[in-house]
Amino acid sequence: MKVLVTGGAGFIGSNFIFHMLRSYSNYRVVCLDLLTYAGNLTTLASLEKNPNFRFVKGDITNRELIFELFREEQFDFVVNFAAESHVDRSIENPGVFLTTNIIGTQILMDASKYYGVKRFHQVSTDEVYGDLPLNRPDLLFTEKTPIHTSSPYSASKAAADLLVQAYGRTYQLPITISRCSNNYGPYHFPEKLIPLIISRALNNSKVPVYGDGSNVRDWLYVEDHCKAIDIILHHGENGEVYNVGGNNEKSNLEVVKIILNELEKSESLIEFVKDRAGHDLRYAIDSTKIKNDLGWQPEELFETGIKKTIQWYLDNRKWWELIISGDYKQYYENMYQNK
Ligand code: NAD
Ligand code: TYD
Repeated sequence: MKVLVTGGAGFIGSNFIFHMLRSYSNYRVVCLDLLTYAGNLTTLASLEKNPNFRFVKGDITNRELIFELFREEQFDFVVNFAAESHVDRSIENPGVFLTTNIIGTQILMDASKYYGVKRFHQVSTDEVYGDLPLNRPDLLFTEKTPIHTSSPYSASKAAADLLVQAYGRTYQLPITISRCSNNYGPYHFPEKLIPLIISRALNNSKVPVYGDGSNVRDWLYVEDHCKAIDIILHHGENGEVYNVGGNNEKSNLEVVKIILNELEKSESLIEFVKDRAGHDLRYAIDSTKIKNDLGWQPEELFETGIKKTIQWYLDNRKWWELIISGDYKQYYENMYQNK
């Protein structure tokens, strides 16, 4: 099988490439990535000499390049991770989210249709469902929950999902969609909550918590997400949406305290800062469908997954120190100066 993984130099895409090459010794995996600020080729450095792997630098919105790559490689599967993925950045600058997340998806599907791929899988998010109240723990997102978005990021992902479903229905493109909760694990870019807290705490810097820290996220270890996509790709039904959750709901403040405690750092590092505009209160996923239909369920507990993740950041200081010393430093100053 030949698999195109877009956005494979980012957090989840890179973990997925490692997972696929480990799991299927006869698969060819091609990674297409624009290497935006979030893409990091050093993450994939260990694959440089792997004969089953190819890296292509390119933009999913570049129609010519995409069609040429599909013609050359004749992919069986396409897994689209490529996206602008950070909510805070989407609030500052929504335009690029629409271009990459919507138009990029359309162009990939046009090529998938033209060259007759066996499956186009769209990696989506639980954020397309909006949020749930904090005082109703009985409510969870199911695949039937209406789309109801809060941020330019989630709106762009929802628009892409609708387009993917439209291509499935109108052109019979064999599509699947997974809507996943917040991931954590190795190679997570340190602008997102968990790696931000780990990297800043290790440097004894203040750790910013938005609002009062009561917003809840459902945390999923990235390897569990990779396994879910693998199963959907091979056994999922065309046209279907699958929710993928971690059964690990925690408030942001709880998460921050767990990390500080693991690192033996003082809670006095916590700094409550201005809340995110439109901040979603709670995400919680009902994964019954993927469990019943495809036999997937998360394996990693948050308690063990967070220890592994912290250990990875301790063992790979160079990886994240390079990131936070560069452009990102400027980003951090701009983003937090008025908070
Ligand atoms: P990420 O920001 O770490 O990686 C995104 C990758 O896409 C980067 O390598 C970047 O260089 C690449 N990219 C961006 N624009 C591109 C373009 N125009 N052409 C080609 N490549 C481009 O993101 P992530 O956290 O790994 O998320 C991957 C996917 O999973 C996204 O679609 C995101 O919406 C979805 N998702 C993420 C989470 C999460 O918790 N991180 C949860 C649910 C869904
Ligand atoms: P984030 O990692 O950006 O993921 P998402 O917005 O997609 O859920 O944020 C996770 C939660 O952590 C979210 O409720 C916002 C909060 N947060 C902070 O409290 N401080 C921070 O510095 C960041 C980046 C996020």
